[in-house]
Amino acid sequence: MTTVRDWEPNQAAAIIAQHAGREGPTLLILQALQNAFGYVPEAAIPMVAQALNLSRAEVHGVFSFYHDLRDKPAGRRVLKLCRAEACQAAGGEHLVARAESKLGVAIGETTADQRVTLEPVYCLGLCATAPSAMLDGRVVGRLDDKRLDALVMEAQQ
Ligand code: FES
Repeated sequence: MTTVRDWEPNQAAAIIAQHAGREGPTLLILQALQNAFGYVPEAAIPMVAQALNLSRAEVHGVFSFYHDLRDKPAGRRVLKLCRAEACQAAGGEHLVARAESKLGVAIGETTADQRVTLEPVYCLGLCATAPSAMLDGRVVGRLDDKRLDALVMEAQQ
């Protein structure tokens, strides 16, 4: 299950200050903000830019490069389907299309009832048992239609 907390600029400022002096701070800060709020609020981008003396575009560039970072709250459950090479070769794209159809959303979106966010992931380290998925941090390999359907059903509960 994912947790979303209300946006608190003061808390965000404290998180940013805590990581600003570290190496590679942009990604660290964005991840810490997502851990705190469940997503990276748009209002945090200029705060990060100012603290690190970067442009907003530079911070946004880092944000959009990492698929794990999201700009709006996720659904209660997050189902990630692997779209990297080994999973693609094992039929992963068919499973993506099947999950999209079952949930009624495109990959990257959240269902209207806010129950499930369907997200892409690019290798879960389970290539030997591709195609693979992750439901709220639990990895599942050797997916086929039946196992995917069970996973989607579990996510919807
Ligand atoms: S390519 Fe999908 S788990 Fe590695």
